[in-house]
Amino acid sequence: MKALITGASSGIGRDIAIVLNKMGHDLVLVSRSGDKLRELSKSLKGNVKIIPLDLSNPNACFELYEMIKDDGIDILVNNAGYAAFGEFCQTPLETELNLIDLNIKAVHIISKLFLKDFMAKDKGYILNVASVAGVLGGGPLLSSYYASKAYVVRLSQAIYEELRRKGSNVSISILCPGPVDTNFNERAGVRFAVKGMNSLDVAKYAVDSMFKGKLMIFPGAKTKAGAFLRRLAPEKLLLKLTYDFQKAKE
Ligand SMILES: NC(=O)c1ccc[n+]([C@@H]2O[C@H](COP(=O)([O-])OP(=O)(O)OC[C@H]3O[C@@H](n4cnc5c(N)ncnc54)[C@H](OP(=O)(O)O)[C@@H]3O)[C@@H](O)[C@H]2O)c1
Repeated sequence: MKALITGASSGIGRDIAIVLNKMGHDLVLVSRSGDKLRELSKSLKGNVKIIPLDLSNPNACFELYEMIKDDGIDILVNNAGYAAFGEFCQTPLETELNLIDLNIKAVHIISKLFLKDFMAKDKGYILNVASVAGVLGGGPLLSSYYASKAYVVRLSQAIYEELRRKGSNVSISILCPGPVDTNFNERAGVRFAVKGMNSLDVAKYAVDSMFKGKLMIFPGAKTKAGAFLRRLAPEKLLLKLTYDFQKAKE
């Protein structure tokens, strides 16, 4: 099979590329940094195409589709994303609009374009990388990020049920990690208050769960527990706990 992976130059996307490639799948790798993608591609085998693009530009998402729509993509991993830390009244609007363009719009556009093709051939896997932040509720101090990941969760869940009702063989999964050791913190300008999971472990678990057709993928016992306990906690208590958890990252 052939996989398209966005945000493949580092962290979870890079490791998903490595895991899929080890399984023998061909790859199309996308991120802004062509040099990092080129370096990664040297360590991979088989047919690996790299496409440097800034996917926060919606036109780039359409360009990407036009470039590879006839390449026979069967696995789509929407992984590129980032967070912006700070109080909503102080964080730069420009950054947040860019975050929405990447974390929401790019996932929306690319999912729609490839889903249509996958449905036409009645096969394919979509793995949308959200976060446990997407199921926890409001995210004080990371408000736009939590909201963007909730969008990814809700959109993907709805698509899942539409596919199921059709008896489709196309599968959609949502990866919801807790903290993972990547470049994520550096870009968000924070440090983790707890130890992050190993990115390769997360990638292996995600790929395995995707091929099993799991809808919600929570890597690690703590993340699973958090997602479960979240359902029991009152909304305002959750907001207080989330604020304290995020504040510790400053
Ligand atoms: N690390 C965590 O704790 C954690 C937890 C839950 C969910 N996640 C999610 O996991 C995904 C991957 O993040 P990560 O932790 O692996 O962070 P990362 O190491 O910073 O990787 C982010 C990837 O996205 C790419 N990217 C960023 N902006 C882009 C743009 N405008 N256009 C195209 N590609 C872009 C980056 O490459 P370039 O810089 O080369 O563009 C990089 O390959 C994100 O969606 C994140 O929200 C992370």
